[in-house]
Amino acid sequence: MKTVFLSILIFAFFSLKAEDGYDLWLRYKPVEKKELLETYRSVFKKINIEGTSSTIQAIKDELIKASKGMLGYTPSFSSSSNKFDGLVIKILSKPGNSVQDILKNAGPHTGLEGFSITGGLIEGKSFVHISSNTEIGLLYGVFHLLRLMQAGQSVLNLDVVSVPKLKLRMLNHWDNLNRTVERGYAGFSIWNWHTLPDHIDKRYIDYARANASIGVNAVSLTNVNANAVILTKPYLEKVKALADVFRPYGIKVFLTARFSAPIEIGRISTADPLNDSVQNWWKQKVKEIYEQIPDFGGFLVKANSEGQPGPQDYKRTHADGANVLADAVAPFNGTVIWRAFVYSSSSNDRFKQAYEEFKPLDGKFRSNVLVQVKNGPIDFQPREPFSPLFGAMHHTPLMMEFQLTQEYLGQGTHLVYEAPMFKEVLNDETYLKGKGSTVAKVIDGSLNSFLYNGMAGVSNIGNDLNWCSHPFGQANWYALGRLSWDPDLSSEQIADEWIKQTFTHDKKTIAVLKNIMMNSHEAVVNYMTPVGLTHIMYNGHHYGPMPWGNTLNRPDWNPVYYHKADSMGIGFDRTAKGTNALSQYSIEVQNRFSDINTCPDEYLLWFHHATWDHKMRSGRTLWNELCHKYYSGVDSVRSFIKQWESVKKYIDGDRFKHVSQLLNIQLKDAIWWRNACLLYFQTFSKLPIPSQYEKPDKTLDYYRSIRILYAPGN
Ligand code: GCU
Repeated sequence: MKTVFLSILIFAFFSLKAEDGYDLWLRYKPVEKKELLETYRSVFKKINIEGTSSTIQAIKDELIKASKGMLGYTPSFSSSSNKFDGLVIKILSKPGNSVQDILKNAGPHTGLEGFSITGGLIEGKSFVHISSNTEIGLLYGVFHLLRLMQAGQSVLNLDVVSVPKLKLRMLNHWDNLNRTVERGYAGFSIWNWHTLPDHIDKRYIDYARANASIGVNAVSLTNVNANAVILTKPYLEKVKALADVFRPYGIKVFLTARFSAPIEIGRISTADPLNDSVQNWWKQKVKEIYEQIPDFGGFLVKANSEGQPGPQDYKRTHADGANVLADAVAPFNGTVIWRAFVYSSSSNDRFKQAYEEFKPLDGKFRSNVLVQVKNGPIDFQPREPFSPLFGAMHHTPLMMEFQLTQEYLGQGTHLVYEAPMFKEVLNDETYLKGKGSTVAKVIDGSLNSFLYNGMAGVSNIGNDLNWCSHPFGQANWYALGRLSWDPDLSSEQIADEWIKQTFTHDKKTIAVLKNIMMNSHEAVVNYMTPVGLTHIMYNGHHYGPMPWGNTLNRPDWNPVYYHKADSMGIGFDRTAKGTNALSQYSIEVQNRFSDINTCPDEYLLWFHHATWDHKMRSGRTLWNELCHKYYSGVDSVRSFIKQWESVKKYIDGDRFKHVSQLLNIQLKDAIWWRNACLLYFQTFSKLPIPSQYEKPDKTLDYYRSIRILYAPGN
């Protein structure tokens, strides 16, 4: 009887309580393995940490939270300097040391943000030591330790030295002041501008914790389609309140600057960057900002793109524009992040435009300007070749812009783990400085010594209870942080860590979830844009297929511009016979893509207009390959559903059901995509869908009649 009672108790303790996902990967669940629990407890018995700053307080708060959750008690802290056993968290530099002193004296070479952790046994007593040159480094070290503990790892054989490879590890929010979020699928903006600065929502702190736990150290709060009002006094007070919350967590705040702000809020008649009054206006504005926020990061700017104002309105260059802002923030060590996402209807190939505008400006930007480049030349498509700019700029630091919010990847509804897509780009060879010049090396500064470098993710965060809408969307936020800390981490490792912290330690379940995640990107490419198709999403909101789209004013806003299907074949010829966009790459990259017979299948239609009977690597014709890919994309989603079902008992009920329901929508959508695209392309190829595949059960007219009037994020 007693044993039965005990088992019930144990079961009740460890059973899978419904979870809403709010805690992200910082769930701090009770440690189940007895041995681990004992070691962790012996380490946490004594926590030695000196100091009283707000960062030290943040460390203590996190340790209390983690210890209560995982070990079942509140730890106590002491600050006696010669303790060795237990958890010792120690700063290596002396308080008051300058940045230069810290770097000169740095013990292990952990710089301003890195840390080292050693753990073991001495005279039978367990210890873990975390050291760093800075308090922020200690915070990162503590989060690393907690990550290992949450993943169920032993801490008694630790010898870790970890230093971030990129300096700016950033989230770009596309949040508007009215709390709508451009391309946001997770509810409204988490910034409640109306109640700021007086009300500090607990979410702001949890957001900062989550970011610090993965190393994110910069956030741009507002939409790149900017509103100058954010630079007015009342709003700067609100920004200050957020910056104050984020500071202890090592996070700097950036704002998007609307280029015409001097006119709109400065009452000057021009925003010409070479005009003295304009330059002075920016200087004064910047001074005002730094008075409020002494560690303000700087500006993120979208200019002369999609209707945004910019220096070209005054016949000036992007460099002229960026440099005015750069000069204004330079005395305060601020940075300007200037986006290279530009295109206009005049170009004969949108692919080429960013290069055409920015390559001639290489070397013309101030040293505190970073040019932020989207991973591919078009716009966050399911698969893009890397942007040619990564292989072209020798004198300008380029910052990577990935999109976490899945604008073209099923938005908040489809399960798509983006790390494999990010890695594909990061690992690609640009040949900027010969072999080995991967995109990762171009952006992490290994090939040059620029003042700044960085990686940004367009945020997928909103005020949904679980932050990211899809429970697996959290993994993309997580991956951005981890990859910007170390672009060499593998997507498997990141998935593995994330699953263990977010869901379970059960080996079989981890394998299943990892398998789903690792195959999810290829699946979405297959059912949306296989073989190098691109931008055939619905106009405007981009949810669902519209390969027939041909009604918008600008050709490069219409899907038909991108696929160019005709009776002969399909695809965009970017070779020398076509727009010659390929010439923007190094000769080695050109060689990889330029021959239609050797171009990798995944990129074929990016660079070639191939005939319907073109022989693919598989031996199939292009038409049959398209069919095969569209059908296998749908099959993958079916298999995700089965795999997810197979781990039901290891996942808490609420999240299980949520993901199940979303996977079912994903399946419906994948079938919609497949049928709509194949039926439409069939009107050109005039070829049958091979008989082994199930036939589309609806007509092309049916698919063409589907309207989604109120898709989110638009
Ligand atoms: C895409 C997106 C826009 C966004 C733009 C940008 O075009 O659809 O909503 O503003 O990218 O990156 O600036």
